[in-house]
Amino acid sequence: MLGVNHMKRTRRIGVLTGGGDCPGLNAVISAVVKTAEREYDMEVIGFLDGYEGLIENRFVTLGGKDVSGIMARGGTILGTSNRANPFNFPVLQGEEYVYLDRSSQAVMNFERLGLETLIAIGGDGTMAASAGMIEKGLPVFGVPKTIDNDIWGTDVTFGFDSALAVATEAIDRIHTTAQSHHRVMIVEVMGRYAGWIALGSGIAGGGDIILIPEIPYNVEAVCERVRERNSRGKNFSIVVIGEGARPTGGEMVIKRTVKNSPEPVRLGGISHQLASQLEAILNIECRVTILGHLLRGGSPTAHDRILATRLGVEALHRVAEGMVDHIVVVRGTKLEVIPIKDVAGRIRKVTPDHNWVRTATSIGISLGVPAEVDLATAFDTRTTAS
Ligand code: F6P
Repeated sequence: MLGVNHMKRTRRIGVLTGGGDCPGLNAVISAVVKTAEREYDMEVIGFLDGYEGLIENRFVTLGGKDVSGIMARGGTILGTSNRANPFNFPVLQGEEYVYLDRSSQAVMNFERLGLETLIAIGGDGTMAASAGMIEKGLPVFGVPKTIDNDIWGTDVTFGFDSALAVATEAIDRIHTTAQSHHRVMIVEVMGRYAGWIALGSGIAGGGDIILIPEIPYNVEAVCERVRERNSRGKNFSIVVIGEGARPTGGEMVIKRTVKNSPEPVRLGGISHQLASQLEAILNIECRVTILGHLLRGGSPTAHDRILATRLGVEALHRVAEGMVDHIVVVRGTKLEVIPIKDVAGRIRKVTPDHNWVRTATSIGISLGVPAEVDLATAFDTRTTAS
């Protein structure tokens, strides 16, 4: 009898990484490939650059050797794209791009390769595209990822802890220069419409004021906190602001719009607006640091490596049992599955009852709300930029 390694593999699955990259993607890929090979003798095909690779039939076969040693590497060995929307895909016609529905091509390529299931590792954009592909007949199983920690239905996403670690170290470093120069230092972090990165790194880094998209901030309340600190001899302040934050009555700052992206709005730059307002009112020097993509790069933390590996292993076991159309999520210490369609189009934001909110206010951090206003009523239910 031939050993397992010499038998022809009869089961094949596909895997892709979609949307913005984040630390931990390679750990998921590695876990999927190793579990498929070791426990089910399955072959794994990796599509390049997210759904783009499936539409354009660009892929690699992944074996144990291909994923050896990749867990500690940031990014994704498969490449990714946050513009590869199968239902609105850019195709060059003459000198111009036209946007076409290429979802049927994706299904056809998938079937030609004799694949059972596609494991899509991605954020809400990828899950929304996957929900559409499921309706077209593509059997998809999802694994959630994002530094933003904003995927609905899961307590936490891998990539978030790594982003928090980088942001916290940056705020620590900003502290010493803020102290030396007696300035207000504003640190802007990613996170889109959710304030998880700002709130978490602000608490961990000892921020004095944390401004998140969920709570429109009152500029006077921010100034008041800076003045109050000065009156106590603290002649510097650290403001941590999420890129999706906005003042009461104001708008989020949109940096650019990416035409064919499932999620076209790119935020960024609110910190400059805040700095001008604070300088004008307080007559104190302000400086801005926008951490941007630094938060997405580099090696995952141990926490994210373990979480990503657990998710990859769980996804593969579920897929091997024949489960499709679901996404694996974290609930407390357990991994569970929920339908992808429940996740698509929704995001998980910071809520007034989250323990990080109470933690922040209890240790004296200002969330940009005047003292006389009940914090819970200051939360905004709007989810996206208008
Ligand atoms: O979703 C992850 C994220 O890094 C967001 O925090 C940020 O708003 C966005 O992606 C940036 O996207 P891009 O890489 O297209 O600039």
